[in-house]
Amino acid sequence: MSEVRLTINGEEHVLDAAVGTSLASVLRDRLGLTGTKIACNEGHCGACTVQIDGAPHLSCITLVHAVAGEVTTIEGLRDHPLIEAFVRTDAVQCGFCTPGQVVSAAALVAASPQPTREEIRHAMAGNICRCGTYPKIEEAILTWQG
Ligand code: FES
Ligand code: FES
Repeated sequence: MSEVRLTINGEEHVLDAAVGTSLASVLRDRLGLTGTKIACNEGHCGACTVQIDGAPHLSCITLVHAVAGEVTTIEGLRDHPLIEAFVRTDAVQCGFCTPGQVVSAAALVAASPQPTREEIRHAMAGNICRCGTYPKIEEAILTWQG
């Protein structure tokens, strides 16, 4: 076990974790932040995406002791207009991928508030949706400002 200090959604956390523990598992199992999903647990699907200093990261393959910046999870984005845009455009089916999609999309619109379809496809390429809601997700991001 070794101490780890994290800033998550603006809150400081100090805890002990075994070396090799993933950020995703600490978020979900130690801190109760279960909005971050784990699907493949191998860095292939994007379900576990969180932001570190505003950039998307796959938390299932991020070692918690290696986290150097401020973490934002889906819980920290609960008031982001993208949430309403995803609902309005019907971009949610089973919803399992949605937290990761919103986290990636929020990083994109922070950097580029009016992204083109090409920019959206590039930025969202790492987020898989098994329900195939890609066109609706694209619409949500194109219209996130209402
Ligand atoms: S659960 Fe992390 S990329 Fe799939
Ligand atoms: S909404 Fe079901 S996996 Fe994306």
